[in-house]
Amino acid sequence: MPCTVVVCGFFGDTGKGKIISYLALKDKISVAARAGVGPNAGHTVVYGSKTYKVRMIPSAFIYDRCRLLIGPGVLVDPNIFLEEVKQLNVEDRVGVDPQCAIIEPKHVEADRGGHLASEIKTTGTGTGPCNADRVLRRAKLARDIPELQRFLIDVPLEVNTAIDSGENVLIEGTQGTYLSLWHGTYPYVTSKDVTASAACSDVGVGPKKVDEVIIVFKAFVTRVGAGPLPGEITWEEAEKRGWAEVATVTGRRRRAAPFNFDLAKRAVMLNSATQAAVTKIDALFPECKGARTFSDLSAEAREFIGKIESEIKIPVTLIGTGPEVWDIVDRRLE
Ligand code: IMP
Ligand code: MG
Repeated sequence: MPCTVVVCGFFGDTGKGKIISYLALKDKISVAARAGVGPNAGHTVVYGSKTYKVRMIPSAFIYDRCRLLIGPGVLVDPNIFLEEVKQLNVEDRVGVDPQCAIIEPKHVEADRGGHLASEIKTTGTGTGPCNADRVLRRAKLARDIPELQRFLIDVPLEVNTAIDSGENVLIEGTQGTYLSLWHGTYPYVTSKDVTASAACSDVGVGPKKVDEVIIVFKAFVTRVGAGPLPGEITWEEAEKRGWAEVATVTGRRRRAAPFNFDLAKRAVMLNSATQAAVTKIDALFPECKGARTFSDLSAEAREFIGKIESEIKIPVTLIGTGPEVWDIVDRRLE
């Protein structure tokens, strides 16, 4: 799978971090390129007894031979980036494109007031106001920032060179299809498109170079912030069902609803997905926790996966059965 794109088919928080970290280790990804909006994303990677939360560094960092790049379409908050580089000790293999726009304190401040905070209920990380400044052609770029000079690299060139040499390349989307500025539940969306095409554009890869698009769904739907969520249940009900989650970046409670086949079907279309991953199957079927082969899943769980496949018309190749990287059924191997 030389060039693979990973995106989310719902509202974000479907477990891309887990799927990406598994693929990085399993498929020995040589180059991972982070796409998406910016540090409004929060990805969780659980490896052994350690839990990592990343907002800027690609989730593929867990594979220690993987190059970690941030494409020019992604907004960089230098403080968050530099802190993660230090924490994860990835200085020698991380690169930022000189054309990444820079989030400044004034963007964060603007994001925490006015209609963005009160109506849209953004993450308050400055991404919307920074993208607005980029469109107005007055945002600073990574090439203007002294602290980032040692990380600057032509990301599209490195990614395309790796693809052309047949190396395994992973493009990491963030947020989710229905948070897209074009295809989501406007105005309750993020500040740009976040479907697979946009992810490719963020890192400078054209449409003919992509081999696989993996769309990630969770076994139930969650959403943080404002906006419609069909079939929404109460927080108390979510707690009862084991669906109660809090957001990685903001600590807010995630709103929850059952798996939505209509949204999933449309998301497959919008992303031209070739395979799907379904995470947290153990939240619906606790008996499946830790299963590693399809036949170890209960009949009910297998039926649920079959129903998804018959609706979305692409194979569900990866099934998450717990938080740890290796808690997964990989049907590509079966
Ligand atoms: P913004 O992206 O911070 O402008 O927030 C706009 C909307 O997208 C809000 O509803 C946020 O909660 C949501 N959002 C942004 N990034 C993520 C994410 O990574 N996961 C889940 N929701 C997100
Ligand atoms: Mg998240």
